[in-house]
Amino acid sequence: MRYDGIMKKIRNKIEQKTRQQSLLGGISTREFLEQYWQKKPLLIRGAMPDFKGLLSAEELAGLACEEDAQSRLVSYVRGKWQLEQGPFDEARFHALPKKSWSLLVQGVSHHLPEAAALLQQFDFIPHARLDDLMVSYAPDGGGVGPHVDSYDVFLLQGLGKRLWRISGQKDLTLVEDAPLRILKNFETEQEWLLQPGDMLYLPPQIAHWGIAVGDCMTYSIGFRAPSAQELTSQFMDYLQERINIEGMYADPGLKSTHHPAEISRPMVSQVSKMLSRIKWRREDVARFLGSYLSEPKPHVIFEKPNAISLTAFRARLAKRGISLSLKSLTLFHGDQIFMNGECLEVSDIKPAERHLLLQLADQRGLPVTSFKDEQLVEQLHQWYLAGYIEFSH
Ligand code: SIN
Ligand code: CO
Repeated sequence: MRYDGIMKKIRNKIEQKTRQQSLLGGISTREFLEQYWQKKPLLIRGAMPDFKGLLSAEELAGLACEEDAQSRLVSYVRGKWQLEQGPFDEARFHALPKKSWSLLVQGVSHHLPEAAALLQQFDFIPHARLDDLMVSYAPDGGGVGPHVDSYDVFLLQGLGKRLWRISGQKDLTLVEDAPLRILKNFETEQEWLLQPGDMLYLPPQIAHWGIAVGDCMTYSIGFRAPSAQELTSQFMDYLQERINIEGMYADPGLKSTHHPAEISRPMVSQVSKMLSRIKWRREDVARFLGSYLSEPKPHVIFEKPNAISLTAFRARLAKRGISLSLKSLTLFHGDQIFMNGECLEVSDIKPAERHLLLQLADQRGLPVTSFKDEQLVEQLHQWYLAGYIEFSH
């Protein structure tokens, strides 16, 4: 029995490795990360050989009509770019021209378990770097024009074909008065026609332009690269709520002045000294990162289940596995686990069961488990009531 279990584990690992090697065109995840990630583009023919897409154009349009999906319609009409934000009315899709537009829906993995499973194939990259899965549909000639992103992105071709043009150009001048960032002087350096299952990896700042060849759907697996400015200002916000600097401004030796409007040098010196007492530790940075990066986007709404008592929850937990809601973002650092912006100290949980929380975060689910730690069960109950976790199907 034990031997069979070990063999099964080894077989699964080999299968996972083979799948990952095909995903990356025959190279290992290590080689990919060392040679391409954040460095240079990689075209992978047949990355997912049987991939035909996960939803139809009609289903994508249906999603774009939902309140809690972020969608955009980009069109190019009489030489001008236009941008409309969703949610859309179904009638909008009946009034579209035959060519030169594109519908883009973000966060598709929040709605489709198959899309969440697709993202799991990219688990060799930390979840903290993942942004989302965007799916686009465009009829012949459609696309969002030439642009650069601040993201690392895997562009996986679903339905139909797309011509991708890329350029490492330095000229990033934008078309004036366009409602989206379109490069004015795009100069193709390389181009490829992608077929279903082909994938193109692009690091940030590589100019690219995807043009639909016939009906086309593209799946963008995007990894965020936050700017230093964004991280700094968010960290300042975080710190502001926690910082406590003792003392008050004081000037018992004040001298009379001829310039009552002046901010004196001693005043500036004293306040500079006060401000230099702002300090933080690595743990503050880790806690900030966990809370900030696991914070759901503003439009995300968790569906709460019918409330059940702790006793009923415990009984169900003994029979069913659990999984994270498709919308949940769960990260950890050391003894802290971050669930949708909230922090839980793992050290409050019995040592023998702490690893279960890490497994829940890494694998987005847990098989049926007999939990012994009452505090853990209570926490899981709270997360269940908030819609953060569910019983597996
Ligand atoms: C698209 O799918 O049309 C756009 C993807 C991108 O260029 O980032
Ligand atoms: Co792009």
